[in-house]
Amino acid sequence: MKHTMAIIGFGGMGSWHYQNVTEKIPDLRVKGVYDIRQEALDKAASLGLHPYASLEELLADQEVELVTIATPNDFHKPLAIACMRAGKQVISEKPVTLNASELEEIIAVSKETGRLFSIHQNRRWDKDYRIIKRIYDEKLLGTPYFIESKVQGSRQAMHGWRGHKQNGGGMLLDWGVHLIDQLMMMIEAPVVSVEAHLLCMFSDEVDDNIKVMLRFENNVSALLEMSTNCLINSPRWHMQCLDGTAEIRNWACEGKMVQLKEDAQMKWEDDIVYTEAGPTRTMAPRPSFTMKELPLPEVTTDWSDYYKNIVGVLEGREELLVKPEQALRVMKVIDLAFASNEQRQGLPCWI
Ligand SMILES: NC(=O)c1ccc[n+]([C@@H]2O[C@H](COP(=O)([O-])OP(=O)(O)OC[C@H]3O[C@@H](n4cnc5c(N)ncnc54)[C@H](O)[C@@H]3O)[C@@H](O)[C@H]2O)c1
Repeated sequence: MKHTMAIIGFGGMGSWHYQNVTEKIPDLRVKGVYDIRQEALDKAASLGLHPYASLEELLADQEVELVTIATPNDFHKPLAIACMRAGKQVISEKPVTLNASELEEIIAVSKETGRLFSIHQNRRWDKDYRIIKRIYDEKLLGTPYFIESKVQGSRQAMHGWRGHKQNGGGMLLDWGVHLIDQLMMMIEAPVVSVEAHLLCMFSDEVDDNIKVMLRFENNVSALLEMSTNCLINSPRWHMQCLDGTAEIRNWACEGKMVQLKEDAQMKWEDDIVYTEAGPTRTMAPRPSFTMKELPLPEVTTDWSDYYKNIVGVLEGREELLVKPEQALRVMKVIDLAFASNEQRQGLPCWI
């Protein structure tokens, strides 16, 4: 069965949705595009898509069953509600809204109209994330307790509308949503505290270099970092577990796991060890013969699984993978991160 969809907002990500769906999802057909820019409509027409002259024209098109919204963030809510009220099933780009209460409004309309509402949290299918999640889930290095998740660029400014508060710009609402969503989908425990440092280093309006610390009820703590001015990058992921340490250096998923060798028992003398940085017992370097390196586990993953699931849901065969209630938890953590930054302290919670 073929399902027909339309896209609202045909910029960078809207074009990606068109390309991905057209190339990889045979059961979905993109019929047309609505955008406020004529240039974007012209581009759609040149690809053989129908350029809707108005939102009303798109909403009135009975052939269109599903709409993907890929506009700047502040338009997601009114467009999603208008689409559901017109009988369409809806996917919104992330961040679904600018705060949790706006998302609650959308969820209420989804329940009232019985329309599907999902959020394009595609980074749940990133390879680096799937690897760290496998190490975490399968306890390949024992019980995990400290996780660092970092994305570090060096272009300094947030690009275009992402630099404006009114549009829902800023790093927390941009990459922050992805990194928080990834951790909350991996660590199955309530978030019990949030501390955020949201620096506006190159923008007057929005945060552009940020750190967020999340503590979970199961004693796992995570540090998230998103920078726009970092010239020496840390690993994408670093995870400390009771029986070893995992590192994924980059999106190409170079990295390793390191464990203690079972047969290389080492007797720690109680003597002070003299290092280049002076005497220390606690930080004495471990001899390499006591450790072994393991390759990262293999995973296969594909971003288009997001849309395959949507088709499965439309046909009543599958349960929705990216649920609005999951996004609501993320938005509650985001709300608290903004509050924590304003109050300059960590805040307790149960999310
Ligand atoms: N999931 C991801 O990995 C990912 C990656 C990039 C962007 N995004 C999200 O996608 C959305 C779009 O980002 P982008 O980078 O494509 O931005 P963009 O600026 O490249 O494109 C936005 C498009 O929306 C159009 N637009 C603006 N207001 C509109 C309105 N009211 N009605 C119809 N069209 C309108 C613009 O003309 C433009 O063509 C954002 O929510 C962003 O957070 C997600």
